[in-house]
Amino acid sequence: MIVALDGPAASGKGTLGRRLAQHFGLRHLDTGLLYRAVAYRIIADGGDLDDPATREAAARDLDPATLDPSLLRSSAMGEAASRVAADERVRAALLDVQREFAQRPPGAVIDGRDIGSVVCPDADVKIFVTASPEVRATRRWQELHASSADVSYEEVLDDIRRRDARDAQRAVAPLVPAQDAHLLDTTELDIETAFRAAVDLISAHR
Ligand code: C5P
Repeated sequence: MIVALDGPAASGKGTLGRRLAQHFGLRHLDTGLLYRAVAYRIIADGGDLDDPATREAAARDLDPATLDPSLLRSSAMGEAASRVAADERVRAALLDVQREFAQRPPGAVIDGRDIGSVVCPDADVKIFVTASPEVRATRRWQELHASSADVSYEEVLDDIRRRDARDAQRAVAPLVPAQDAHLLDTTELDIETAFRAAVDLISAHR
């Protein structure tokens, strides 16, 4: 059982993915963390995010077992991740890790941007989670504010719009719903209602 959960920044797919995996007894992979970890490695080593060879080497050397999400969650790392994620060699280097994870029993919920379209085109269920940029910015701002990050709503909204544009316009694996994906627009839904809607979509395929 493979569930592909795609969508733009701060659409709620991370939270949904975790809860869905728990509910259905599946493993969960947040693939955004892989791209964030590549960017983190380059920055921590004092490398150049725009240098293709540096990016490719960081992606090839990535060991998913050593990911530390607490180092990777900042908006700055999201922005840096979206820059390295536009590079097709980085994407190619991360493909096997993601596919191996998907194939291991008992199956997985995998969230990202291109899971239903590129990584797991044969996924059993594909859900594309969206919400308006303003609602996504509000949710993300509340999260950041709760962890006492000093950032304004306008900064968060700008960051989301910039990342949406870069992720949707890149030449390779752009953010786009797979043709057979179910659209789940959470603009007007709280997390509980969105979770129930996703459970229903997945249960219908079992
Ligand atoms: O989902 P998250 O915000 O953590 O992703 C960070 C960045 O990584 C995204 O803006 C996107 O550019 C990139 N990404 C991607 N493909 C994925 C997951 C994330 O290009 N499957």
